[in-house]
Amino acid sequence: MMEDLPKIRGLHSLRMLMEPGEYYYCRCGLSQNNPFCDGSHTKTERFTPLPVKIRMKQEVKWCDCRHSKTLPFCDHSHRELPGYVPKTTHEQPEE
Ligand code: FES
Repeated sequence: MMEDLPKIRGLHSLRMLMEPGEYYYCRCGLSQNNPFCDGSHTKTERFTPLPVKIRMKQEVKWCDCRHSKTLPFCDHSHRELPGYVPKTTHEQPEE
């Protein structure tokens, strides 16, 4: 199992309205408090949380596939992963 890390949680970004503060983004994908660290990375030997400062209230597009080159933020790398299906409805524009 550990060879498959980081675990892909989803193939779209996680949009969240964030308050200012310091957060710890989960880089291993094992957290039960996704996308934030809950300490589950201690089961691995190579992952640690990524500290993130949010300076003002804003919508954040968190990476949910852990393959973004701009972690912790989505850069649409999930579109290159097997199984990706774009969202096409007007209610949920493609992410
Ligand atoms: S639980 Fe994933 S980095 Fe901490």
